[in-house]
Amino acid sequence: MTDKPVSILLIEDNPGDRRLIREMLAEAGNVAFDVQYADRLQAATDYLGQNGVEVILLDLGLPDSQGLETLRKVYAQASEMPIVVLTGLNDEMVGVQAINEGAQDYLIKGQVDTQLLRRTIRYAIERKQAEERERRLQVQLNLSNRLASLGLMVEGFAHEINNPLASVIGFAQMLAYEDIPENAREDVKTIEDNAQRVVDIMTNLLAFARQQKLERTYINVNDTVMAALEMLGHPLEGGNITITTRLDPALPSTMADGALLQQAFLNLVINAETEMKLAHGKGNLLIMTELISDTIQVSFNDDGPGIAQANLVHLFDPFFSTRGVGQGRGLGLSVCYGIIADHNGRINVESQLGKGSLFTVELPVVPEESGVEVS
Ligand SMILES: Nc1ncnc2c1ncn2[C@@H]1O[C@H](COP(=O)(O)OP(=O)(O)O)[C@@H](O)[C@H]1O
Ligand SMILES: [Mg+2]
Repeated sequence: MTDKPVSILLIEDNPGDRRLIREMLAEAGNVAFDVQYADRLQAATDYLGQNGVEVILLDLGLPDSQGLETLRKVYAQASEMPIVVLTGLNDEMVGVQAINEGAQDYLIKGQVDTQLLRRTIRYAIERKQAEERERRLQVQLNLSNRLASLGLMVEGFAHEINNPLASVIGFAQMLAYEDIPENAREDVKTIEDNAQRVVDIMTNLLAFARQQKLERTYINVNDTVMAALEMLGHPLEGGNITITTRLDPALPSTMADGALLQQAFLNLVINAETEMKLAHGKGNLLIMTELISDTIQVSFNDDGPGIAQANLVHLFDPFFSTRGVGQGRGLGLSVCYGIIADHNGRINVESQLGKGSLFTVELPVVPEESGVEVS
């Protein structure tokens, strides 16, 4: 554990039990604890709605909630924090049930000493961290498996559509050269324009399905970020949206398709801008680049509305959009995903409603000598 005090929320209404635990935690040891307490469920969930803690010590019998119901409510509010349940001497079974319902461990009141308490807290934190790592990996894996099979489907679909589509456009163009009445010419133009829209959608879908050819050159990703911002075509400061860049000047160059990366970055910036404007009419976007071991990391951190948990898994799906009809096609992030995956990179999102969003792109550094790789 770190030297920083371990933050604890002690949810306990009995002053005697509370004091006992506080005293045990205060006893000299190599770890310090920062203990907050709540004597009611309501106060506890209020606190947890605003603050994270490293571990929760929970007495199940509170004035406003009893038994496992107490655990369920705390867990619903703070499922990402480890919970150690405090039970009475006669209900050890409840402790076991508590573990089945998401608690990390339980302690029996009256049978706790300083050492046991400290060790339980430490293991609860470590186990929970391991679980969280495992869970995140699993989410990533599920997502990439699902997107890979979606990609295969989309690829087949796009190839089937492209031939007839090319023929619609070709014949419409030929017709336009014929001697036809003016109103028919307008109709023919409408046919061609709409077919062209389908071509655009297909191009994006093929990017998602990773069916574009990369044209890799030796580039610096910092330049690509700046080029994307120039394409936006408005000043970074001023207006309601402020874009700040913090680009690592020592970032190594890498073999990559600059035009495609630029498109991916632009999509991320436009999304952030759109969402911040929709939600608050203003906002801040911080774009950072840094080298983390052998990986170039580009992050886009906005203070917009954030993303609901239920939407996070669908974000990169083609046609997933929360915007109204005609406002978004839901292909921007799909295209980003395809472009980054084609570079053997990864794109991640972390977000909570009301707390902004963080999109992180990770790109492996590819040295110049290794030239173009087939992907
Ligand atoms: N920075 C962001 N903040 C909040 N929501 C976002 C952000 N970026 C993307 N989203 C969500 O992801 C959805 C899909 O984005 P995208 O694939 O670019 O499609 P579109 O922009 O056409 O809706 C958006 O509709 C929005 O709900
Ligand atoms: Mg978009």
